[in-house]
Amino acid sequence: MTVSVVGDGGKTGMRVSRNLQKSAHTVFYSESSPAGQERVRAEGRGITSAEDAPKNADVVILAVPETVLGIVSEGVLPQLKAGAILLTLARHG
Ligand SMILES: NC(=O)c1ccc[n+]([C@@H]2O[C@H](COP(=O)([O-])OP(=O)(O)OC[C@H]3O[C@@H](n4cnc5c(N)ncnc54)[C@H](O)[C@@H]3O)[C@@H](O)[C@H]2O)c1
Repeated sequence: MTVSVVGDGGKTGMRVSRNLQKSAHTVFYSESSPAGQERVRAEGRGITSAEDAPKNADVVILAVPETVLGIVSEGVLPQLKAGAILLTLARHG
C-alpha cells in the first residue's frame, strides 16, 4: 500500500512512522515544523509537502494536534484518490 503520515515529527507521528519505515509499504512523510522536520530527517526519512503527501495514498494518517485536525483535513481531502482512507488518531471525541 501507499501510506501518508501527516505530522510525522510529533510524538505519535514518530512512533507510527518508525514502524511504517520498517514495513514494505511505500510511505510519504509530511511535517510542517522545522524542529519536527529535523527529527524526521535524523531517522532517515524524507519530507514530502502536506499537499503532495496524500496524493495516490491508500491510507492517510493524520498525526497532527486535535486543534488543527479540521483545517488539515480540509487541505488533505481534495488531494485524496477515490476510496482512500483518512485516519485520525484523536484521543478525544
Ligand atoms: N501523544 C500521545 O501519546 C498520543 C496517543 C494517542 C493519540 N494521540 C493523538 O495523536 C495526534 C497527535 O498528537 P501528538 O501528541 O503526537 O502531537 P504533537 O504535537 O507531538 O505532534 C503533532 C505534529 O504535527 C505537526 N503538524 C501540525 N500541523 C501540521 C501540518 N499541517 N502538516 C504537517 N505536520 C503538521 C506538528 O509540527 C507536530 O510535529 C492527536 O490527535 C492526539 O490526540 C496522541
